[in-house]
Amino acid sequence: MSNYEVLSSVIKNRRSIFPASYIQKEIPIAAIEQILESANYAPTHKLTEPWRFTVIRKDAKARLGETLGNLYKSKIPAHQFLQKKYDSFSEKTSQAGCIIGINIQFHPDKLPAWEEIAAVGCAVQNMALTAETLNIGAYWSSPPLIDDLGEFLGLAENEKCFGLFYMGYHNEEPKQANRTPITEKVKWLDK
Ligand SMILES: Cc1cc2nc3c(=O)[nH]c(=O)nc-3n(C[C@H](O)[C@H](O)[C@H](O)COP(=O)(O)O)c2cc1C
Repeated sequence: MSNYEVLSSVIKNRRSIFPASYIQKEIPIAAIEQILESANYAPTHKLTEPWRFTVIRKDAKARLGETLGNLYKSKIPAHQFLQKKYDSFSEKTSQAGCIIGINIQFHPDKLPAWEEIAAVGCAVQNMALTAETLNIGAYWSSPPLIDDLGEFLGLAENEKCFGLFYMGYHNEEPKQANRTPITEKVKWLDK
């Protein structure tokens, strides 16, 4: 296969795979390191390299589930509280082999925030594609509660969490992406 064919097949086969599909099989630290290494090669304007990660494994997964559940309970008005939703946080974190906090370090003196967010989006796509090549399922989770995870994730003043990257081995069949054709989204200017 040509480089293009390899890359195109990894890009097209990558799907968001959710915790309910994960099997209980530990993800080796070496695989997590490969995934993080790919993140580090994302493009970055002015070389600010704004991506910061918090790797959450083993007992820390249960602590994250508990923290998310407690945050949910404290934020939601009592009459809207759903026990099922509360329980889902710990369920998901225990199903995951590893969870990576996706954080951004901002440099307002150098760049507008959107450029740092865009760079981190590229970094996360590198992670997702690398996970795909390692047969590890993953998805980017962005519940509003991530705004209150700073203490848990150990973030500094100029850092903010933008999501949780859930990962796990799985036995899902390859699934076609649900996309409309690119031709509907492109204008060509030739003259
Ligand atoms: C920035 C970002 C945030 C996302 N947040 C969530 C989320 O909170 N919950 C969720 O179920 N999926 C989330 N997703 C995953 C999308 O649901 C998923 O990419 C979409 O359904 C397309 O499926 P695919 O990734 O398999 O192609 C997020 C994706 C991105 C890029």
